[in-house]
Amino acid sequence: MDEMIPIFKKYLEIAEPYVGGKTLDEIKSRKKKIYKLSSNENPIGASPKAEQAVKKFSENLHIYPDRTDKRFRSALSTFYNGELSEDQFVATPSGSESIDLIVRAFAGEGTECIVSNPCFKPYTMFASWLGSKIVDVPLKEPDYSLDIKGILKAVNKRTRLLFLTSPNNPTGTYITKKEIKKLLKKLPKHVVVVLDEVYYHFANAKDYTTAMPFVNAGHQMIGVNSFSKTYGLAALRIGYCYSTPAIAGYIRQLCKPFLINKLSLEAGIAALSDTEFVQQIVDLIQTEREYLYKKLDKIGIPYWKTQGNFILIKPDISANEFEDFMLNEGVMVRPVANFGAPGCVRVTIGTREANKAFVKALKQLYK
Ligand SMILES: Cc1ncc(COP(=O)(O)O)c(C=O)c1O
Repeated sequence: MDEMIPIFKKYLEIAEPYVGGKTLDEIKSRKKKIYKLSSNENPIGASPKAEQAVKKFSENLHIYPDRTDKRFRSALSTFYNGELSEDQFVATPSGSESIDLIVRAFAGEGTECIVSNPCFKPYTMFASWLGSKIVDVPLKEPDYSLDIKGILKAVNKRTRLLFLTSPNNPTGTYITKKEIKKLLKKLPKHVVVVLDEVYYHFANAKDYTTAMPFVNAGHQMIGVNSFSKTYGLAALRIGYCYSTPAIAGYIRQLCKPFLINKLSLEAGIAALSDTEFVQQIVDLIQTEREYLYKKLDKIGIPYWKTQGNFILIKPDISANEFEDFMLNEGVMVRPVANFGAPGCVRVTIGTREANKAFVKALKQLYK
């Protein structure tokens, strides 16, 4: 008898599926008006310029789109006022796909990736799929600040990627420029730092930073971005990452021909010039954050100050019970135990009408 050769990769057998937030269709039957505050989507819709582009370019769908991301990269370089050049970008079908490409480029069996939970689950998922070992250096409670000492201690010769998120999902916290500088100074050259900044437009802290100054200073850092949040294009799946020309070029080798579909590409290019829409959503989120702080303070529910378009709260009932209660009141929220924050719930910041509905439901619970 032939010896049985296992066909399944050991590290894929343990993979936990990603449990996303419920869709509107899944809960439609429950109540007429539902406010979806569970997936950090844009509460005012999509960039009108992007929507126009989708309409304009939806003919000739039988013809292949651009084979490369060159036009998109050129638009991105213009968007960054030439401070980043075309060869520093990689266009991807979403921020998640950027993360997947980065992981495929740098991680794999025999390597380690550092994450700081609570954080976006796909870093762990995608790196595990390739057999990389995940090393968790949790954010420090109670303020969820980055454990720089712990990270530096966790680095060894197998470490390839360090995932940082600022503003962080689900905590809403951010990493200061000083903290990033401190880390970069001490990290060995075989570690690439990924700074996921998909919520960067919403940040207004003085010492907030994106990856750009560090990338331009030649550090081994990659900025990850998405059109799902600020530009409201979650359904189109479009994003990008940027780094030094050497790192971006290295990652780009993994991009399949025709990776970006035509409608997403045109929508992305159009959205980049929609400064009016960006201003509108950024103003709304920043105003509504303050509104919610006041209401939450008054109600007395613990929460974390946020730099994103969502807020993390800690109800005094279980997160799942809280989710069900809110759903009955017509508000969808997201328990985030699977992001590493058990007992906590993430609430997307919506329009004033949606936020009022959320506050009204909260008041019922905390009367
Ligand atoms: C921190 C973070 N990074 C990346 C993404 C990926 O966004 P997308 O794949 O929709 O571009 C998300 C989405 O929720 C996120 O919260």
